Amino acid sequence: MDLFEYQARDLFAKHGVPVLAGEVIDTPEAARQVTAELGGRAVVKAQVKTGGRGKAGGVKLASDPDDAVEKAGQILGMDIKGHTVHKVMLAQTAEIADEYYVSYLLDRANRTFLAMASVEGGMDIEEVAATKPEALARIPVDANDGVTEAKAREIVEAARFPAEIADQVAQVLQTLWTVFVKEDALLVEVNPLVKTADGTVLALDGKVSLDANAEFRQPDHGAFEDKAAANPLEAAAKAKGLNYVKLDGQVGIIGNGAGLVMSTLDVVAYAGERHGAVKPANFLDIGGGASADVMANGLEIILGDPDVRSVFVNVFGGITACDEVANGIVQALALLKNKGEDVTKPLVVRLDGNNAELGRKILSDANHPLVEQVDTMDGAADRAAELAAK
Ligand SMILES: Nc1ncnc2c1ncn2[C@@H]1O[C@H](COP(=O)(O)OP(=O)(O)OP(=O)(O)O)[C@@H](O)[C@H]1O
Ligand SMILES: [Mg+2]
Repeated sequence: MDLFEYQARDLFAKHGVPVLAGEVIDTPEAARQVTAELGGRAVVKAQVKTGGRGKAGGVKLASDPDDAVEKAGQILGMDIKGHTVHKVMLAQTAEIADEYYVSYLLDRANRTFLAMASVEGGMDIEEVAATKPEALARIPVDANDGVTEAKAREIVEAARFPAEIADQVAQVLQTLWTVFVKEDALLVEVNPLVKTADGTVLALDGKVSLDANAEFRQPDHGAFEDKAAANPLEAAAKAKGLNYVKLDGQVGIIGNGAGLVMSTLDVVAYAGERHGAVKPANFLDIGGGASADVMANGLEIILGDPDVRSVFVNVFGGITACDEVANGIVQALALLKNKGEDVTKPLVVRLDGNNAELGRKILSDANHPLVEQVDTMDGAADRAAELAAK
């Protein structure tokens, strides 16, 4: 989960990374009071989960409270790389003498963590990395050792931070590592880290990406979720514990196993080309051992998607045998009917693997008017696409 800058700022503050005071607002008028509280001046910053806000005009200096109202009015509603600005952060202004870059991230290719730092920070770090890679120090960080004082000094030296701020930067690097570890982050980036005119080191912009796999031990992280941006079907699926991703097509997909579901999306997209370019409407992996309840929950989500015109249930029986899956489908349809949901979209079911014969017989015997069976994955994809195109 990527955080907004103001959320990253809050995490930094919580762990003691030096930041400036700031407040988030969503109407221009609110800028007046906040700016007065911040000392009469403020930087108005678009809160969107994409980079390059400054260059897009999403970061503006306001010289007084009235000016802040005007600047907030210009930035709110702005579109930055496809992201509409719904919130701005007003931050205290810093008198910047120099801008630097520091970050920690998971370096999957090298199976380690990586610290990156540069004294050429600011808005163009991507350009620095591309054209002057020697100006961006890259220091591996061992997960067991973490960023000790010695490691922090190594990073400071490798990036050639000026001597007069070396202690402060080393301290920030250690605190930032605490943020990275304690918050289960995959990325913590400060750009710019600045030296102010009076020689203080401050984090003026933060980017943090949290590891969703650690949600179970980070109860506070739920509050960071951008509820307004969440897709309602995805939110409902998440509440039911389903692995569901909404896509923009018309063929609902249910499968067991992420790999099988991914290839199902491919064959449906391919088959869809022959049927008016219909596409998969979602990713849904009901996993191994899917019970009737799980099947019902999955079907309920998919049938609740107004874009869906047909459903393809693609199951390869393994640990969960096909007869259990077939019973699950039959019970799920009955369950939905009992709940008063009117199931009107056709289902194409392909069962293969463990106990496929028995599973198919159960579905044939149930003789549900909306359920159709096709024996092969390609054939079933084609039929589901054809039904969606009707
Ligand atoms: N509080 C502040 N006081 C003074 N100047 C600031 C402040 N915050 C940001 N700036 C200036 O604005 C520039 C851009 O700000 P910031 O880094 O937050 O946005 P950005 O880099 O454009 O956004 P992104 O990181 O999303 O690409 C900074 O490099 C800095 O020069
Ligand atoms: Mg920045």
